[in-house]
Amino acid sequence: METTIGIDKIGFYSPEYYLDLADLAAARQVDPAKYKIGIGQDQMAVLPPDQDIVTMAANAASQILDQADREQIDLLIFATESGIDQSKAAALYLQELLAVNHKARAFEVKEACYGATAGLQIAYDHLAAHPQSQKVLVVGADVARYGLATAGEVTQGAGAIALLITRQPRLLALQQPTAYYSEEIMDFWRPNYRDTALADGKFSTEQYLRFLALTWQDYQAKTNMTLADLTAVLFHIPFTKLGLKGLRQMTADLAASDKDNYFDYFQQATVYNRQVGNLYTGSLYLSLLSLLDQQQLPAGARLGLYSYGSGAVAEFFTALVQPDYQQHLQVAVHQQQLAQRQRLTVAEYEQLFQQTGLTDDQDYQIEPQSPQAKFYFAGQHDQRRIYQRKEPLHS
Ligand code: COA
Repeated sequence: METTIGIDKIGFYSPEYYLDLADLAAARQVDPAKYKIGIGQDQMAVLPPDQDIVTMAANAASQILDQADREQIDLLIFATESGIDQSKAAALYLQELLAVNHKARAFEVKEACYGATAGLQIAYDHLAAHPQSQKVLVVGADVARYGLATAGEVTQGAGAIALLITRQPRLLALQQPTAYYSEEIMDFWRPNYRDTALADGKFSTEQYLRFLALTWQDYQAKTNMTLADLTAVLFHIPFTKLGLKGLRQMTADLAASDKDNYFDYFQQATVYNRQVGNLYTGSLYLSLLSLLDQQQLPAGARLGLYSYGSGAVAEFFTALVQPDYQQHLQVAVHQQQLAQRQRLTVAEYEQLFQQTGLTDDQDYQIEPQSPQAKFYFAGQHDQRRIYQRKEPLHS
């Protein structure tokens, strides 16, 4: 059998509080259709104080890891642009919480929303180059914060995606070559003295679409493929309207009757993103999970994936859907997790938003308040972050 490398399992966790964007629209005196149609978002996840990137990543990864995985992972990559420390990698806290093999490389990567794709491609290369290595854990966890009553406020969100990368993967086989492009631009950034991002939103939209055109053109030149070779296309989704613009651009030359399938799949691929909001680096992979969870795709279907991280780096690549992939998803877990969230009022959301704790150097304690979470952030002692696990890990 030909050796393939790709995504064997996907885990997902998002905060258990959300704001309905109709409520936000009323508070900001905006037509709700602007948020729900113009931006393309229905709700956004709101981070409580007992969760951060480490606990969200642990909650996502613990859904998918068994004892054999923990022993066989020899590379753990934590992608984030919401780092909790300037020096120490969040990957080390995660390794300890999940009881992952110590004979592993564990580190953090950052390039805005591209980080998880960097991790995925490093994971591919690692397994391709080291026959004795078996499994890589890649997580993307972020908190998207723009500030109260800013233009970006409606595109906030939070959550984590965990990807287990193996040979003979049961969900998706990653394909080579891929097409990538980098260029230094100022479309979105967060200087060290800020806990909210700065964005030139309109410019960022243009760059996202420009980098899509460049990488898709390069991908076609490298592979001789066309859109007809792709069953569906997945996008980085900071808000669903941006992915929709990307799909419109890619399908502009198709006859109307040939476009429908792509737009139907796109709708399925944004069901979760509409409810959670922006995960930053996890967003493309939440869109992938949304499509896999909603839709019966034929084995061998080729998916195109467009990753974009402001600043900016983009990559276009494809992956093949594996036979019987549905048996290896946890659809009910994901749907139940979203269904059981608690809806906040705008006043409650604003209060949580302002409680960041980022600049505190004092000791403090935080009580667990997320019922579905197995891991929580318990506060700080001697300027050290304290993480807790509520129950033993499953074997
Ligand atoms: N009904 C339906 N649609 C409406 C509407 C209404 N009543 N009012 C406005 N809209 C539409 C607009 O036509 C526009 O659609 P278009 O983009 O297809 O032209 C859309 O809603 C947004 O309206 P706009 O006035 O352009 O929004 P804005 O100035 O509030 O900014 C963003 C929107 C996305 C630029 C802003 O939220 C932002 O900066 N977000 C963060 C950017 C980001 O995520 N960057 C990272 C990218 S990787």
